[in-house]
Amino acid sequence: MDHEFSADEETLKDIASELTRFEIKRSNVIPILQMIQERHAYLAPEAIRMVAEHLGMAACEVYGVATFYNQFRFQPPGKHQIKVCLGTACHVKGGDIILENFERKLGISEGQTTPDREFSIDRVACVGCCALAPVAIVDETVYGKVAPSKVEGLILGFEIEKEKEERRKQRDESN
Ligand code: FES
Repeated sequence: MDHEFSADEETLKDIASELTRFEIKRSNVIPILQMIQERHAYLAPEAIRMVAEHLGMAACEVYGVATFYNQFRFQPPGKHQIKVCLGTACHVKGGDIILENFERKLGISEGQTTPDREFSIDRVACVGCCALAPVAIVDETVYGKVAPSKVEGLILGFEIEKEKEERRKQRDESN
C-alpha cells in the first residue's frame, strides 16, 4: 500500500470515533468502508488497519474485501476528477478507448491519482446522457461524443491553466 497517500491525524481521529458506532462483526466491514470513503473520499492504508483491528480481522482480509468492489478508492481523488462512462451505450461507442487514452496520457490507471495530485481517473456507470456517448465528466463538466484525439487537448487545457495560476502566484508574491 502506498504511504504517499497516508491519512492525517485528524482523519484517523475521526475514523476512530466513528468506528465505535459499529458493532464488532465481520458483516460490518462493507458499511464501515463505505462510511470512511464517504467522510474522507478514500481508504488510506491506516484506515484499513484500523478497520481490521476493530473487527478482529487481518488487514489483508479487509483490503481483499475492499478491492473486490470497485466502489472503493485507495488514493485521494485528484484536484481534477476525470470520470469516464463505461455504461452500455458508452462502451459500445468506445468508452474503454477513451479511458485508456486518459490513462496513457496521465500515466496512471483508473482508481489512481497522479503523484502531483492534479488528476484522478475513475470509471462510472451510465450517467444518463447516452445520446452523447461516449461521455467523460471532468470535475462538473460533461463532455459528450469524446473522440480519443480530444483527450490530449483536454488535459493540456488544465495544464496551461495550472501554469498560468502558478505564474500569477509568483507575480503576487514578488509584489
Ligand atoms: S452509457 Fe454512458 S451515458 Fe449512458
